[in-house]
Amino acid sequence: MKIVNARLRKKEGLFSLELTAGRIAAITAQPDSIACAPGELDAAGNLVTAPFVEPHIHLDATLTAGEPAWNMSGTLFEGIERWAERKALVTHEDIKTRAKKTIDMLVDHGIQHVRTHVDVTDPTLAALRAMVEVREETRHLIDLQIVAFPQEGIESFAGGRALMEEAVALGADVVGGIPHFENTREQGVSSIRFLMELAERTGCLVDVHCDETDDPHSRFVEVLAEEARVRGMGARVTASHTTAMGSYDNAYCSKLFRLLKMSGISFVSCPTESIHLQGRFDTFPKRRGVTRVAELDRAGMNVCLGQDSIVDPWYPLGNGNILRILEAGLHICHMLGYEDLQRALDLITDNSARALALGERYGLEVGRPANLLILSAPSDYEMIRSQGHALVSIRDGKVLMQRTPARIERRV
Ligand code: FE2
Repeated sequence: MKIVNARLRKKEGLFSLELTAGRIAAITAQPDSIACAPGELDAAGNLVTAPFVEPHIHLDATLTAGEPAWNMSGTLFEGIERWAERKALVTHEDIKTRAKKTIDMLVDHGIQHVRTHVDVTDPTLAALRAMVEVREETRHLIDLQIVAFPQEGIESFAGGRALMEEAVALGADVVGGIPHFENTREQGVSSIRFLMELAERTGCLVDVHCDETDDPHSRFVEVLAEEARVRGMGARVTASHTTAMGSYDNAYCSKLFRLLKMSGISFVSCPTESIHLQGRFDTFPKRRGVTRVAELDRAGMNVCLGQDSIVDPWYPLGNGNILRILEAGLHICHMLGYEDLQRALDLITDNSARALALGERYGLEVGRPANLLILSAPSDYEMIRSQGHALVSIRDGKVLMQRTPARIERRV
C-alpha cells in the first residue's frame, strides 16, 4: 500500500509512505503534490500520524451509566455507590461485551493503543479474567495493556496484596495502586513500596491512581517518584490524575518538580473527568481540580491526556473520541497559547506512547509497524480549530477504519 501527498508533523513539505508486509518500508519526500494512482491512498495534504493512544480508561465499567440507577448528583461519591450496585450484576460476558463495544468506539476514532485499568479488588478476579480474553480477541484492532487496579486499596482491602500478585500471574501487564484511598498515610506509602517491588520483580509496568483528590495534603506522588528514582524505573512508571497537584502551594510544588524530573516518571491527566468530579467541596472560588499539565510539560516532563470513563457511574458522556478530550484539556489547562497549539497532538500521540513504553512499536519511522492515521487537517493547530477527525486508520498495513466526512450543501 502507498499513501501519497502526506504532511508529517514537525516536517516541511509533502511525503509518500510505502507500507509492505505490515511495516513502513519507505518515507519519501515529494517535490510537489502528485496524482494518486489506483490502489493508493491520497492524504490530500493532510497530516499522517502514528495512531492515537488511549492511556487511561476503565473498560470494565464503561457503558453502565443508569444501570440500575443514574448518578443524580454527578459526584465521585455517588458514582462509587452506583457502581457498587452495578458491580453486583457484573458477569464475564457482560464485561467482555461492553469492553468490546467500547474498543470499537475507540477504533472508530483512530485509537490503536489502549491502557485499561481493571478492578482487582474482587476475590474472583472476574473482570481481570474477562479482560485477558478481550486482549487476545481484539489484537487485530488494538494493543491492550491491562492494569491490575485495586479500586478499594491494597492494604485497606482484605487480601489486597495477594489479589495483586494473582492478577499479575493471570496476565496483567501493569501494576496499579490507589494510595490516597488507603485508610492511612502509612498504608498509602506501604502500598506504593509493595507495588513497586511487585513490578520490579515481575517486569511489569506501573500506573498508579495517585492523589486523585483536591486535598493538598495528599502527597503520594513524591513517594512514587522517589521509589522510581531509587530503583531506576522512571521510564516504566506513570502517575495518573495527580489532581491534588492543582491544590499544592507553589513552594511545595517547586521542590516536588525537582524530584519528579529526576525520577523520569510520566503523567496522565483526564481533564474532562477531573473537572467534572473534583472541586465538589468548594463553593467559590471553585478549583479546577486538574493537575499542572502545562507546567509539567514546560518543565520538560512527559504528560499526556486520557478519557478515563465512557458512560459510567462517574462520567455520563463520552464517545471514544480522544480529540474531544484534547480540545477540552487545552482549554481547562490554559494551553491555547500559540506554541501549545503547534504541538497539541503530542498529548494524545507521542507523549502517551512514551508513558505506555511502546518504544519501537510506535511511530512513523521506516521499519516500524505500519500503524498510522490520515487526519482531516494539515497541522496540529488546524486539527484542533476545525474539530477534525481521523479519516483513515491503518493497522498492520491494512485499512481498519475509514470515515466519510460530513458533506454540507449550501442552497443559497
Ligand atoms: Fe481512572
